[in-house]
Amino acid sequence: MSETPKLAGVIGWPITHSLSPLIHTLWAHRAGVNGYYIPVAAKPSYDEFAGVVGALKIAGFAGVNVTLPHKSNALQLADDASEGAKKAGAANMLTFHDDHVYADNSDIFGFAASLDEATGGAGNSPTKRNSALVLGAGGAARGVILGLRERGIESIAVANRTRERADELVDDFQIKAVDWAKKEGILGSVDILVNTTSLGMSGQPPLEISLEKLSQAAVVADIVYTPLQTPLLAEAASKDHQTANGLSMLMHQAVPGFQTWFGAPAKVDAALRDELIRALERRNKE
Ligand code: ATR
Repeated sequence: MSETPKLAGVIGWPITHSLSPLIHTLWAHRAGVNGYYIPVAAKPSYDEFAGVVGALKIAGFAGVNVTLPHKSNALQLADDASEGAKKAGAANMLTFHDDHVYADNSDIFGFAASLDEATGGAGNSPTKRNSALVLGAGGAARGVILGLRERGIESIAVANRTRERADELVDDFQIKAVDWAKKEGILGSVDILVNTTSLGMSGQPPLEISLEKLSQAAVVADIVYTPLQTPLLAEAASKDHQTANGLSMLMHQAVPGFQTWFGAPAKVDAALRDELIRALERRNKE
């Protein structure tokens, strides 16, 4: 008798452009898993989100990824949460158990793993990195700061157009804040530069920053993946810096969910990346 297919998915609004179904479907196919990963729309209110989660639990889903605008709703809905999700104030994974819902934040892992990929592996980089500058102070910045902490980065500064939002992160994570206008001034002492703002994304203005002062060993990361190579990453690559792009983070953040819900290994590799790049190119032509 054939077993019941395993079910998981991603909840967001809008959800049409999510690449997560493609990632999980490819891994399921590779691992020979009898399972489906489905995009599910939930309108932007807590009640709509909770209603959809309740229906998916009844339908036998093992869990879901959660994307914008529901990441804080996911944490609020869960019975229990990982330390990372609590500290980030947001969850992008809900796992359904018989008697409780568990929230986790794999964006933290995803960012840390994308840094590893850029630098040749955790703890494996030729230069010990101690300091980072994070641009932006939204939800994404929180996950990035926690990812940096997971990799032992002690000195973290944040620069944000709206200083008050940067100051909130200073209080929550015991980091430093730098005025947005003065961000270039500290680049000489920064080992990792991360853009978490929407600047440089297709349709948005570019991030204007000179990398002149950045030391050659510094890594430059951008969590944006449309375009894949933002103007910031293009400039960094032209100066021979190691770079981490948003697609790398997106692929790595998907690993814990797939392993948990489908019980099979998930590998981030060039074949997966190429598949996603083709999907992004198809989308651009639409
Ligand atoms: P997310 O949760 O995905 O990080 P967000 O909360 O909307 O999204 O944050 C977007 C980030 O991009 C913020 O840091 C925002 O700066 P403000 O807090 O000042 O709004 C930043 N950002 C967006 N447009 C910007 C611009 N034109 N110049 C500088 N920063 C910008």
